[in-house]
This record gives sequence, structure tokens and C-alpha cells, in this order.
Amino acid sequence: MKYIELGKSGMEVPAIAVGCMSIGDRTFAEAEHFVQSALEMGCNFFEHADIYGAGRCERMFADAIHMSPSVREKIILQSKCGIVSGVMYDFSKEHILSSVDGILSRLKTDYLDVLALHRPDALVEPEEVAEAFDILQASGKVRHFGVSNHKSAQIKLLEKYIKQPIVCDQLQFSLTNAGMIQSGMEVNMETPGAADRDDSILDFCRLNDITIQTWSPFRYGFFEGIFIGSDKYPELNKVLNELAEKYAVSATTIAAAWILRHPAKMQLVSGTTKAFRLAEIVKATEITLTREEWYRLYLAAGHILP
Ligand SMILES: NC(=O)c1ccc[n+]([C@@H]2O[C@H](COP(=O)([O-])OP(=O)(O)OC[C@H]3O[C@@H](n4cnc5c(N)ncnc54)[C@H](OP(=O)(O)O)[C@@H]3O)[C@@H](O)[C@H]2O)c1
Repeated sequence: MKYIELGKSGMEVPAIAVGCMSIGDRTFAEAEHFVQSALEMGCNFFEHADIYGAGRCERMFADAIHMSPSVREKIILQSKCGIVSGVMYDFSKEHILSSVDGILSRLKTDYLDVLALHRPDALVEPEEVAEAFDILQASGKVRHFGVSNHKSAQIKLLEKYIKQPIVCDQLQFSLTNAGMIQSGMEVNMETPGAADRDDSILDFCRLNDITIQTWSPFRYGFFEGIFIGSDKYPELNKVLNELAEKYAVSATTIAAAWILRHPAKMQLVSGTTKAFRLAEIVKATEITLTREEWYRLYLAAGHILP
């Protein structure tokens, strides 16, 4: 396993985080086998949200990991709040505080290592977020704070009021969803990739020591499918398979290695619930793609170099 520093938290964390969004779809025996195998692979960073399976994923995880004080010491727990599914986004102080209480009780723990705000709330009052963060930090319920799907100016707005550093921004990123990279390479052009949809979040995070956590690292579109083995991406799969053969690994490993090769030192948030696939993803921490290979994959995914 390779370790990275999570923003300015002072915490060393595995470069591969185990996303638990789909764990609630598994039987208890499958979930138990998966999380115990993850621990054996050195994957002790688990990523949740209060809305995953309407709380079922956090509950299933706590049981599957056999949560106890000694287990808790060995793992790093992140969860997210701020979405009221299908209704609204809510960053009010009351909502943040009550969400954390729900998360802690489902995860059977008394603290989170990281709490992230899931999606920007149009009605955010940053003073209220600041109050909530202060209360959560003072009570010991949350150690570090982050965001998800936020652009630079939204982080700056929060940071005007909060005392704690934002340690991470969780964003969709993969070979096929690489807008963060495209806009930085097609600057001032009329090409579709030139569109800056995220307020130069990649550079902002690098400038401010905020770790980008990449969600849906193997999906294309917004939950449309997995690009590995997909007929929609013949050229990409050709190059993935060629490099997989060269390094004697799977195409999944190469797609993960592409993310880890970026010097921003992103944390890949994996979504698999299968131990064999997590092992393929962890293998990516042992591979450093060459510059030529990284760009070849980028082009094969359909992006351009002007
Ligand atoms: N912040 C946000 O807004 C946000 C949004 C979405 C997700 N997330 C977080 O990010 C995590 C990952 O997201 P995701 O689940 O969309 O990510 P993903 O790792 O790109 O997708 C994983 C899914 O693809 C399947 N899969 C099939 N073939 C695969 C292959 N060759 N390689 C890898 N996976 C393959 C996996 O199934 P198997 O289980 O069968 O392997 C799994 O269901 C989530 O668990 C959650 O923690 C955050």
C-alpha cells in the first residue's frame, strides 16, 4: 500500500480508500468477507455517507467489521452529510449536527476521522457551518473536515468562516471523466474540453494542500456504466489491455494507476464490494506509469492534446 497525507490533517492515509456506497446491497457474509479482506490488504480507510442505502450501508459496515474499541483504533472513518435524498441539500447547523449523531450511532463509534459536506447547498450559511464544525470538533465527534463536489470559490466561502482546514474535496474523476484535466490543457480554446466546469479545482486543491478524493474511478458518464471492457471505449480498452499485459496486471489496475500517477497525489475512492477486485486496485500502488503511457491512455480515452 502507498500512503499519502490527507490535506493538512497530519494523517497518513492509504492511497486507496474503500467506498462503502454499495456494501448494503451485499449479504452480511459477503460484506464481512469484503471488509475483513480489505483490512488484510492494508485498506483501512472506509468512506461512507449517511444517505448510502438510507443508512443501511453504515450499519452493515459496522457489523461486518466487528466494530469495537480495538477495531476502531485500527481504521480511519469518513462519512458525508448534507443531502436529504430527493428533497433538498441542507448545510444548516441543526442538520449537520443531527446527521453526525445518526452516522456515529450507525457506525457504532463515538468519532469520525473525517466529515465531508456531500454536495454544495445553494442556501448555505457559512457561519452556521462554522458553528457546527466548532461544536463537532470540541465534542470530539469529528477530527477533520472536508467537502465533496465543491468548486474553488465554494471552498473559499466556507474557509472565510470556519477555523478548521478543509482537508479533502471528493470529486468524480476517471480516465473518461477527466474534465478537471481537460480544461487545464485546452485553455482558451473553443473545444468542448476547454469548459471550466469546476473553477479550476485541481489547481486550487494543489495550491491549498487539499486532497482530491476521486469517486467513480471506473465509471463513465453519471453512473452510465463501467468503461473497462465497454464497447463504447474500444481504443481505451486496447491500450489498457496492452499496458496490463506489459505490467502483468489487469486493465482495472492500469486504470487505477492512471489516477495515482497524477502528481496531485489523489486518493482513489474505490466502489467495488469484491475482494479480488480491490486487490487489483491496490496493485496499482506498485506501478508508476511513464509519462508517455499516462498521455497515451488520456488520448485513448478520447481527450485531445491541442
Ligand atoms: N461524493 C459523491 O458524490 C460520490 C458519488 C458516488 C460515489 N461516491 C463514493 O465513491 C465510491 C466509489 O464510487 P463508485 O462505486 O461509483 O466507483 P467505481 O469503483 O468506479 O465503481 C465500482 C462499481 O463498478 C463495478 N465494476 C465492474 N467492473 C469493474 C471493474 N473492472 N473495475 C472496477 N469496478 C468494476 C463494481 O462492482 P463489483 O462490486 O462487482 O466489483 C462496482 O459496483 C463510492 O463507494 C462512494 O464511497 C461518492
